[in-house]
Amino acid sequence: MSAGRLAIIGGTGLTRLKDLEITRREVMHTPYGEPSGPLTIGQYHGHEVLFLPRHGAQHTIPPHQVNYRANLWALKSAGVETVLAVAAVGGITAEMSPGRIAIPDQIIDYTWSRFHTFFDGNGESGVTHVDMTYPYNGELRQTLIAASRELDLGAVEKGTYAATQGPRLETAAEIDRLERDGCDVVGMTGMPEAALARELDLRYACCAVVANWAAGRSGDVITMEEIAKNLETGMARVKQLLPTVIGRCCNGEAPE
Ligand code: HPA
Repeated sequence: MSAGRLAIIGGTGLTRLKDLEITRREVMHTPYGEPSGPLTIGQYHGHEVLFLPRHGAQHTIPPHQVNYRANLWALKSAGVETVLAVAAVGGITAEMSPGRIAIPDQIIDYTWSRFHTFFDGNGESGVTHVDMTYPYNGELRQTLIAASRELDLGAVEKGTYAATQGPRLETAAEIDRLERDGCDVVGMTGMPEAALARELDLRYACCAVVANWAAGRSGDVITMEEIAKNLETGMARVKQLLPTVIGRCCNGEAPE
């Protein structure tokens, strides 16, 4: 697949892209305010990549305060066509064990009170309803899945992402409800990010990293130490995955 300019939005555990040979940083201003930080632009394993840490370079912006509209608008303005979102999640269903990668194919949005659309009736576009039947780009998902198979990373190849408001974690009863709803993983940033990407006609997919068993799924309380430890394992897999995915996106081939 040909990706146009490609961006990675990094989540918790991925505030910088280690192998990115940075050529410049661009401070962007948007009609929706400031993005989470400057866009970092550089060469990643021979391909141009833009990187934006969702929670800011110092991880100071909580999920409900991320300016999702500014982030997506800034990427679109920079000529990005493809966005790979990396996000930490809790695992709800049995296969979503800590340290694993998952490539979700569906989302249920439980967030509230976030700026969730570019189409609020004020602009030229008026009332617009974008299709969200399949919230993630199919081709980009398949690229992620193929790369994971090739590298034997054992990614879970589908699943429904529950987007919760945060920043607190859920109660055990809330997780039971999410499971009854058909959710497999739970995170706090999947929406409105995916919907805004669709509104801007960006190719968008998510690489979720399971940081912990969701509330009530392990019998233990969830600690930040546990999350950090599992994220290290999961992000190591993401870092293995990215060069192959980006190689395929940029020229249809995996890099050596
Ligand atoms: N719940 C919501 N978001 C998360 C979790 C969780 O358990 N773990 C990482 N992000």
